[in-house]
Amino acid sequence: MRITRKSSIMTWWLCGMACDRLTATRKWSMPRQCLAFSRYSITSRRSCYRNHRMTAQIQSSSFTSDATEEEDDTIRDADDSSKSQSTNKARPPQKAHRLPPLQTPLDFPDWAYEPRDFFRFEILHQSAKSQARVGRIHTPHGTIDTPGYVAVATNAALKGVDFRHADQANQQLIFANTYHLLLHPGADLIAEAGGIHKFTNRLDRPFITDSGGFQVFSLAYGSVHEELSSKGELKRAGGKSRHYRNDLGKDAVKVSEEGAYFRSYRDGSKFLLTPESTVQAQKKIGADIIIPLDELPPYHIDRQVLVESVDRSHRWEARSLQEHLKNITQQAMYCVVHGGIDRELRTKSVEYLTSLPFDGYAIGGSLGNGKQELKELLDWMMPLFDEDSSTNRRGKPRHLLGIADEESIRNAVVRGIDTMDSCYPTRVARHGTILTMEGSIKIKSGKFARSFGAKLDERCNCTTCTHYDRAYLWHLFKANEPIAVSLAAQHNIQYMSDLMSDIRQEIMDDKI
Ligand SMILES: *[C@@H]1O[C@H](CO)[C@@H](O)[C@H](O)[C@H]1NC(C)=O
Ligand SMILES: *[C@@H]1O[C@H](CO)[C@@H](O)[C@H](O)[C@H]1NC(C)=O
Repeated sequence: MRITRKSSIMTWWLCGMACDRLTATRKWSMPRQCLAFSRYSITSRRSCYRNHRMTAQIQSSSFTSDATEEEDDTIRDADDSSKSQSTNKARPPQKAHRLPPLQTPLDFPDWAYEPRDFFRFEILHQSAKSQARVGRIHTPHGTIDTPGYVAVATNAALKGVDFRHADQANQQLIFANTYHLLLHPGADLIAEAGGIHKFTNRLDRPFITDSGGFQVFSLAYGSVHEELSSKGELKRAGGKSRHYRNDLGKDAVKVSEEGAYFRSYRDGSKFLLTPESTVQAQKKIGADIIIPLDELPPYHIDRQVLVESVDRSHRWEARSLQEHLKNITQQAMYCVVHGGIDRELRTKSVEYLTSLPFDGYAIGGSLGNGKQELKELLDWMMPLFDEDSSTNRRGKPRHLLGIADEESIRNAVVRGIDTMDSCYPTRVARHGTILTMEGSIKIKSGKFARSFGAKLDERCNCTTCTHYDRAYLWHLFKANEPIAVSLAAQHNIQYMSDLMSDIRQEIMDDKI
C-alpha cells in the first residue's frame, strides 16, 4: 500500500486520538515513553505520541521518499485500530504536525560569524599536561579569569553574601536565574531600573542569565530530577520543586513546539516561555551572557524521547539565536549542548550547535548520575570541542552548567572547561559546612566549641577569617543567629575564588 504524506499525517492524528482513548482502559497501544507523560499532562502525552510517530517517519523517509513496506504495515495497523475507535469526529482537525526544519548555518547572516568587539575570549596558556587552559573572557562589564567559578545569585542576590563582599573575594561572573526574575520583580521592572547591573549597583562585574527553561522543566520532571540531583551538586537553582509540584498538580508545565506553558509558583498565573520570549526577557535583564531556550529531559528517559528532545532543543536554540541577532545589545549568547550521556546524540549536538554563530558553549542536559559518570562524559565529549578549526570551536569559552563542587571542578578543568556555576558553596554554608584547604568541616560540631583563635581556614584572608574564630562561628550556628550563615557563605565564596586562582596557577605551571 502506498500512502501519501497528507494521509499519513491524518493517520497519526487519528491514531493519536484513538490511542488516547484506548489508553483510558488499555495501556498497551501507546509507546511506553509517551505513557510516562500522563503524569504531567494529556497534551504532552498526545504530542509525544504524535512526535514519536512523526520522528520515525522523518528518519526513515525524510518526508520525500516513499515509506518502506514495513512502515506501511505499521501505519496500516495503527490505521485499522483507529478506525473502529475514532467514529467521533467532533474534535476539530489540528494543524499539520510536521516539525519545522532545522535551521542551517546558512540561515544566519554572514556578519553573525564575525568576532564581536564587545566580547572576546583569549587563551593565555594551554597546559602541556592536559586539556586545561588559562584564559580571560572580556565582557562589557569587566573580565572573567578562567578557569573560573560562577556564583549563583538566583534572585539577583547571593544567598547570605553582599555583592560588595563577593567583589572583595574577587568573584567575577555571577549567574542569575531568568525564571525567578521573570516571576518577580519581572523583566520590565529590571529594564526600567536600567538593567541588572544598575539594579544591583554591581556596575563593573559581569552577569550571566539562563533561559528559565531549566526551572520550568524541573517542575515537569520533578521527581526524576530530584532523584538525579539527590547528590546535591547537580542541582542548579531553587530546590523547591517538590513544593511546586504539590501546589500545582500535574499540569504545571505543557510543552509544545512553540514553547513551554507553566504556572507561576507565586500566584498560579500562566506564563508562556518561548525561545523568543526568553531572549526578550534576558535582553531586558541585560546580563553580559545569555542562554537560549532548551528542553531539559530527565535522566531516566527512553532514547527515542531523548532524540526528540535534543532535536527540539536544537530548533529552540536556533530560534533563540535568530531573535538575539535581531538586536545584539552587547550581549553574548552561549548555546547549550545536549544529548544526555548518549555519545551519538552529544556528538550530533556539538556538531550542530558549534556550526551556528554562538559566542560560547554551555554543557547542559543530563550530565550523568554522579561525579564518575560526569567525568566519563567529559572524557569523550570535550575533545570534540578541539576539532574543526574552521568554526573556531577551540577559541570559544566552555561553561559547565550547574556543577561546581571541588572534585568536579578539577575533573572538568583538566578536560577543558573554562567556567562552571553552582549554588553549592552558599547552599552548604546555610547548614554550617565550611570549605577549607583541608576539606570541608561542619562548624556545628561540638569539637569546635573551644577552638579559640583558630581561623576557619588557616590560609584564608576573607573578612570572616580575619575577624572571627571557629569557636564564635560554632556558637552563632548553634544559637541560630542569621549572621552565622552570612559569615560562612562569605568565607565559602572566598574559598572558591582562592581555589580557582590556585588551579589557574597550577595550569600555568603545567602541573595539571
Ligand atoms: C535594540 O535594543 C535597545 C535596548 O533595548 C533599544 O534601545 C534599541 O532601540 C534596539 N534597536 C533596534 C534596532 O531595535
Ligand atoms: C593571605 O594573605 C597573606 C599575606 O598577605 C598571603 O601571603 C596569602 O597568600 C593570602 N592567602 C590567600 C589564600 O590568598
